[in-house]
Amino acid sequence: MSLHHSGSPASPGLPILRVAVLGAGTVGTEVLRLISQQGSELAHRIGGRLEVTGVAVRELGRDRGEHVPAHLLTDDAERLVREADLVIEVMGGIEPARSLLLDAMAHGASVVTANKALLAQDGASLYEAADAHGVDLYFEAAVAGAIPLVRPVRESLAGDRIQRVLGIVNGTTNYILDAMTRSGASFDDALATAQELGYAEADPTADVEGHDAAAKASILASLAFHSRVRLADVHCEGITAVTAQDIAAAARMGRTIKLLSIVERIEEEGGERISARVYPALIPDEHPLASVAEAYNAVFIEADAAGSLMFYGQGAGVHRPPPRSSATWSPPRALACTGEWGPANPATQSSSRSRSTSCAAPSTSR
Ligand SMILES: NC(=O)c1ccc[n+]([C@@H]2O[C@H](COP(=O)([O-])OP(=O)(O)OC[C@H]3O[C@@H](n4cnc5c(N)ncnc54)[C@H](OP(=O)(O)O)[C@@H]3O)[C@@H](O)[C@H]2O)c1
Repeated sequence: MSLHHSGSPASPGLPILRVAVLGAGTVGTEVLRLISQQGSELAHRIGGRLEVTGVAVRELGRDRGEHVPAHLLTDDAERLVREADLVIEVMGGIEPARSLLLDAMAHGASVVTANKALLAQDGASLYEAADAHGVDLYFEAAVAGAIPLVRPVRESLAGDRIQRVLGIVNGTTNYILDAMTRSGASFDDALATAQELGYAEADPTADVEGHDAAAKASILASLAFHSRVRLADVHCEGITAVTAQDIAAAARMGRTIKLLSIVERIEEEGGERISARVYPALIPDEHPLASVAEAYNAVFIEADAAGSLMFYGQGAGVHRPPPRSSATWSPPRALACTGEWGPANPATQSSSRSRSTSCAAPSTSR
């Protein structure tokens, strides 16, 4: 049960990389499209031919379009992950995603996940499993939409000391607040427009109540400060109480209201603690984050040596899967930087595999 995507015939001699995809929804379908259409290029960059060995879903009978062939669908995700070199988890939720990823790593597979809820709730056990089993855990798409943030923070700023991260990491709420700012619309009207245009889900609770931004704040804190910040530790306030009058009053003070995820070091007597919070913040109009419009995301980092840095790019928008999936797909791009890619499970493949320690999951200790 496998599919050699378009890259395989053009990539003779390269080792086979068996890829298990968990989920074929919005993101999974796009990931499969990318593998199918860009398989050859990816194979050369990664140094391995991508072979999708199966796609785990709940409903086997549903037609999922040309990039999700019916013969690859399976409801036996447990078996699928045990026979893979790379597992791409885009099913969402806590279980069975968590157990499947742990099982995959225990069997020697590197994993890619876009699952911010899982990372926020129990990222520590995933990071520890990756360390324990000597495999890689990638989660670029779980933090800030299409913005490649994880590797710059983890690698480029590795020798620096990050003091604070301010993020507009939820495109839906940024779209709504931006629409309210530009047009004077009420929250309800701006939300309705966002839903019509596909920027907000039919049930927008996770976005407008700040839960999505809080999950990302927890991941950002872990990344920036090598600390364990659980979702429950993040103070969370959404945008449902923001009125057109609030926005007008802020404008008169030269301020713009943005939903910010803020994680920072707080020096106190006897040591240091990490603060993580999400709330609608008043930003001075001249601050770069104030001009982040529509559904764009931006992350502003303050570090001792580098000073202020801003990363900017497309964020959420349920009608726009390609940017997200590009970020989801960045881990195999990262694998390309490691040089040779061989199978993760030496019991089933003969060629060797080199692992990039610089691409490893963040340390869980402080
Ligand atoms: N959508 C986005 O904009 C976006 C952006 C960034 C990150 N993410 C993250 O990416 C992940 C996937 O999001 P999505 O929007 O693609 O979700 P989705 O459209 O709901 O798709 C989920 C897929 O996973 C499958 N699935 C769910 N539970 C399963 C189980 N127990 N066993 C087997 N298959 C199961 C579903 O199967 P059926 O089709 O048979 O139901 C479906 O194919 C989530 O963690 C989400 O937070 C999403």
